[in-house]
Amino acid sequence: MNQPNSRLTTSAGNPIADNQNSLSAGPRGPLLLQDYQLIEKLAHQNRERIPERVVHAKGWGAFGTFTVTHDISQYTCAKVFSEVGKKTELVSRFSTVAGELGAADAERDVRGFSLKFYTEEGNWDVVGNNTPVFFVRDPYKFPDFIHTQKRHPRTNLRSPKAMWDFWSLSPESLHQVTILMSDRGIPVAPMYMNGYGSHTYSFWNAQGERFWVKFHFKTQQGHRHYTNEEAEKVIGQSRETYQEELFGAIEKGEFPKWTMYVQVMPELDAEKTSYNPFDLTKVWPHGEYPLIEVGEIELNKNADNYFTDIEMAAYSPSNVVPGIGFSPDKMLQARVFSYADAHRYRLGTHYEALPVNRPKSTLNHYHKDGAMRFFTNDFGNPDAYYEPNTVEGAAREDASVKEPPLKISGDADRYDHRDGNDDYTQPGNLYRLFNDEQRDRLHRNIAGAMQGVPFEIVTRQLNHFHKCDPAYAAGIAAALEIEFSPEEETASCPA
Ligand code: HEM
Repeated sequence: MNQPNSRLTTSAGNPIADNQNSLSAGPRGPLLLQDYQLIEKLAHQNRERIPERVVHAKGWGAFGTFTVTHDISQYTCAKVFSEVGKKTELVSRFSTVAGELGAADAERDVRGFSLKFYTEEGNWDVVGNNTPVFFVRDPYKFPDFIHTQKRHPRTNLRSPKAMWDFWSLSPESLHQVTILMSDRGIPVAPMYMNGYGSHTYSFWNAQGERFWVKFHFKTQQGHRHYTNEEAEKVIGQSRETYQEELFGAIEKGEFPKWTMYVQVMPELDAEKTSYNPFDLTKVWPHGEYPLIEVGEIELNKNADNYFTDIEMAAYSPSNVVPGIGFSPDKMLQARVFSYADAHRYRLGTHYEALPVNRPKSTLNHYHKDGAMRFFTNDFGNPDAYYEPNTVEGAAREDASVKEPPLKISGDADRYDHRDGNDDYTQPGNLYRLFNDEQRDRLHRNIAGAMQGVPFEIVTRQLNHFHKCDPAYAAGIAAALEIEFSPEEETASCPA
């Protein structure tokens, strides 16, 4: 409760008489241990930082609304899509992956694209990227991949050698590397990029039929990107361009918007496609599985407090609602575990009870106590602290939201995820879509990113690009000013 005269207090509410001078024995000191006000102030400052996210540390976000514009109830019973015109509040967060909390915004990197929909059946989180694919397809490789993006233990510098060493030994990364090094690698600001759920998720409808689904969010502002040269100038002037652009646009009432689409695959088609539809390094051809329009996202409210609303936002692919489920995608399976674990470490046991994460729907669970428990007693029913129970009005399971059975089969084993996969056709197709100028920038971006990388690694990687499209490898070799012959283990430097 605020004092009417805005009187300054300690965190326990005791009035403070002097906020300028510490308590000392005589004017020259020393200080007295009983100066609890000074101690409180210093102690709070020491605790102002929480661990930054291990990836996606630098971010920007805002609140907004999702509006359904088309009926997809034939595919899903999720109430968030139940009728055209329905609106659901959400909080968004966009991010770069590799840089730390203080990294410059306009760096070449994949961008995170996170949406938390506060639906009437709890929170539904889409924790995606601005790309439809990813660098690896087996989560066992994710921490290794991230290590190559972070600092070298000895030099404490980012290491192009580590990045290309890993990528050249992981051809499944070619598709994502091609997007990263293309024009789309440095969007001008979050509103000028698309978002993708990337993984295959599932929908199920009121009849219990399952469909596989991919989520797409297409920018209505159009795509805008920086070249490397432009980004260097921008970063020289401001490291905070995304925050300035996104916050500034919303303050001015220029609300960024995205159109949401889904690609839907009938359950049994997954056994027929020539590619594994649960492989995160692949897209589903739009010709076979066209985009179906669903609704519109609008961001229309800036956070009042960046720390509480955006830094403490905790997104997790495990936050799903009835009508939306997972798929066999191994990467998704690992992420379903990893995020809540990260939040318990970064924010604490009761992170879901923080205002930005708290569902706006009815909440009833039997979790107890722990550090920083600040929500009320057992949701109004203090006798119901165990289950099953005979307590009247106590929270009960609801079989009506049960997911239909997911068909799975196979022997438990560590299957080689590189066996029998075509890592070259889709990135090659993407390369062939680029015009000459786009290809030229792609070649130069890759050549620039390979500066200082040993020849054997460069050659190994060029052989992969060659298998995507011979012109791809040749263009990069020309930009590097090296001779390259496919399948050779070494390249020779011109005299
Ligand atoms: C953040 C793990 C793959 C998108 C994070 C965080 C972890 C993590 C631990 C930090 C969470 C936090 O402290 O708040 C993993 C693992 C992956 C994986 C283990 C693979 C096995 C992916 C993929 C995507 C993605 C494939 C996109 C398709 C994001 C985004 C964030 C994030 C957008 C930031 C969320 C936010 O805005 O707070 N990831 N990740 N990650 N990840 Fe992943």
